[in-house]
Amino acid sequence: MENKNILIGSDHAGYELKLKVIEHLKELGYTPIDVGNDSLESCDYPIFANRLCEGIKEGKAPLGILVCGTGIGMSLVANKHRGIRAACCSDTFSARLTREHNDANVLCFGSRVVGMGLAFDLVDNFLSAEYQGGKHAKRVDMITAVENGNILK
Ligand code: RB5
Repeated sequence: MENKNILIGSDHAGYELKLKVIEHLKELGYTPIDVGNDSLESCDYPIFANRLCEGIKEGKAPLGILVCGTGIGMSLVANKHRGIRAACCSDTFSARLTREHNDANVLCFGSRVVGMGLAFDLVDNFLSAEYQGGKHAKRVDMITAVENGNILK
């Protein structure tokens, strides 16, 4: 992907892993844009998932990474946003395929689920994969249709 900006956010549970992922992203030549949280103090993950999704919709970066304890809360919030397709992953195959098939634009994972090494591999697989379009485009369009309130039968 041409645009090397990448939004990244966490809550308190994901904070320490997020800092490591930020360093990893820099080493890969990306420009991470951190939307917070900025400490280990307890906070509410929806705030940071929202901020990151708004940033994508404003065009600050094409992709984002969200880290909380499980990755699940972040993904639930992110998927409420129109145009956001967030995938909570803890294996590298899914992290790659969700870009290739689902055109996911947000990767979520949990600091209490994956270690640093696996987190880096998830990021590497997600960022190096490319959306394949073709037969998958019809299905991604159907996700958008559901988002727009069109009932699919
Ligand atoms: C915080 O304790 C935890 O609930 C949060 O990080 C996340 O795992 C929610 O899905």
